[in-house]
Amino acid sequence: MSKKPFYITTPIYYPSDKLHIGHTYCTVATDAMARYKRMCGYDVLFLTGTDEHGQKIEEKAKAKGITPQQFVDDIVEGKGGILDLWKLMNISNDRFIRTTDDYHVAAIQKIFKKMYDKGDIYKGSYKGMYCTPCESFWTESQLVDGKCPDCGREVHPAEEEAYFFRLSKYAQPVRDLLTQTDFLEPKSRVNEMVNNFIDAGLEDLCVSRTSFTWGVPVDFDPGHVVYVWVDALFNYTTALGFMNDKYDDFEKYWPADVHYVGKEIVRFHSIIWPAMLMSMEMPLPKKVFGHGWLNFNGEKMSKSRGNVVDPYLLAERYGVDALRFFLMRTFPFGSDGNFTNELLISTINTDLANDLGNLVSRTVAMVIKYFGGQLPVEREADPLDDELVAMAAALRGKYAEFMDAYAPHSALSETFKLISRANKYIDENAPWVLAKDESKKTRLATVMYNLLDVIRIAATLLVPFIPGSCEKIFCQIGASSDVATWENAAEFGKLPLDVTVVKGETLFPRIDMNKELEELEKLSAPPAPAVPEVPACSIDDFAKVRMQVCKVLTCENVKKSEKLLKFTLDDGSGTPRQILSGIAKFYKPEELIGKTIVAITNLPPRKMMGQESNGMIISAEKDGKLNLLILDDAIPAGAELC
Ligand code: MSP
Repeated sequence: MSKKPFYITTPIYYPSDKLHIGHTYCTVATDAMARYKRMCGYDVLFLTGTDEHGQKIEEKAKAKGITPQQFVDDIVEGKGGILDLWKLMNISNDRFIRTTDDYHVAAIQKIFKKMYDKGDIYKGSYKGMYCTPCESFWTESQLVDGKCPDCGREVHPAEEEAYFFRLSKYAQPVRDLLTQTDFLEPKSRVNEMVNNFIDAGLEDLCVSRTSFTWGVPVDFDPGHVVYVWVDALFNYTTALGFMNDKYDDFEKYWPADVHYVGKEIVRFHSIIWPAMLMSMEMPLPKKVFGHGWLNFNGEKMSKSRGNVVDPYLLAERYGVDALRFFLMRTFPFGSDGNFTNELLISTINTDLANDLGNLVSRTVAMVIKYFGGQLPVEREADPLDDELVAMAAALRGKYAEFMDAYAPHSALSETFKLISRANKYIDENAPWVLAKDESKKTRLATVMYNLLDVIRIAATLLVPFIPGSCEKIFCQIGASSDVATWENAAEFGKLPLDVTVVKGETLFPRIDMNKELEELEKLSAPPAPAVPEVPACSIDDFAKVRMQVCKVLTCENVKKSEKLLKFTLDDGSGTPRQILSGIAKFYKPEELIGKTIVAITNLPPRKMMGQESNGMIISAEKDGKLNLLILDDAIPAGAELC
């Protein structure tokens, strides 16, 4: 029988900066769900990728003096880039889309044209307030305290000829979708969308830009590029082969089973996205799940606030699984969560080192100590076993209910109830006492078996969250891959009766909280003040600047100016050159007469205090100190600096 398809996506990430723990949270959550569904027997397609167009990227690349393509290539594919991060975090995506991929670009052009031909995209002119970082136009009424309602930053008035998507036409069907179906979850997000956006009046959406070029060109109207969100949202379909030949599983996987998205982009996914799909007459995704934000010490994480948490650093210190686990165990998926280093360390210590790690290492050690590593097959049940065995057998059902309700934190919480119960079972049965009495050997073997089988069930259900560690656990408790399956997780007693254990490394070393907090504090000490990024200058640009040696003929203060000195210079041309320079605070005019200095001589003339200045004298300045560049007199006037 062929497997049922399950298509799940993360948002595609902006490669404008290194990704932080918030981005990692969303991708790990998607990965856990994808692994869970695979384990349940679905034919999963898990897509992630990068959203590479837009003004922000264009500007950042320019500031670095490289092309936008070079800029995004570095952040996506370079060392320590997005692909590296997902590899490190053991992300099991089946596909990775980059919106600069040719097949995607060509498909977006066709999609845009199709909506245009249908009359759902039309040409108009846009006036509004524009937020550059968010690449969004806003109406005055949408602004919050005059700032961008999404990111809180400054907006500026902007006007451009543009194409518009008839979003207003789809207001009612989208409203019905949100209010009459389970399309958007958690439910709390529905009210926000309906009240704040749809019922407040859904205006047509500006879907092209002319103010920059780094985007998908509108092929029938040069100068326009497709709005980055139209380009980005359709990635979910082009990555399956919609309107392109790169892939051919659109029919199989579309509509998506679920899009995981952060709360601030729910608006795009639950209003604009279904409206555009309706326009394209395409089936709608089955669900959009808007998860919360991970804040740091109570504040939104952002590069400008300097409080972003680096997933590389944490994964390196505590292990990938410890980090994955912490993210999924601690924060209820639909709500905001507050990341702190204390919470991270205490979760690792309590759940992983104490509860799970200890249970595995104690059990394995006892089987080795009391039975040489292999259990005998005889058993002796006791009422003391009943609660533990019943809990273990019932766990998979509860776990699945929570996972299917997008509550991975609750699925984990149930699993850890069983793990704690198993630790208590060790104390109740005191195997070290049983071991002293030869007649209790069979009972002791039963206790050990029950513990091992509980570990098998718990570890099977933990695979989506901590896959690497579960492999190690299976190896230690002697659970082969045909035993450690989802099917078997619903039943107690699936390990072979004569199971053999193997001693392994400590799974999750305990962390010394105080020492570690100090270390982390040091590692996250604020970086040295940022040196402003200086745009790179090409050799061609540099060659345009003419710097020449000049001899100072006269030099005097400019009347009524405290700053300016007026120079007459011999630049070797035979005609004296007048330049004004703001260095009066640093030099007396008479000390400069006769000196050999350097000036830029091909600048356009400029008036200062009513007098013309024809160039600029070169000096060096730092921390309130200034020095003119003064050369040896031997070099003649007019010599060029090279
Ligand atoms: N490029 C768009 C998505 C286009 S999808 C068609 C985008 N990119 S992003 O890189 O800015 O954000 C990607 C995801 O990371 C979003 O879902 C966002 O909510 C999530 N997060 C970014 N910071 C976050 C936290 N601090 N906490 C949780 N998730 C966060 O938006």
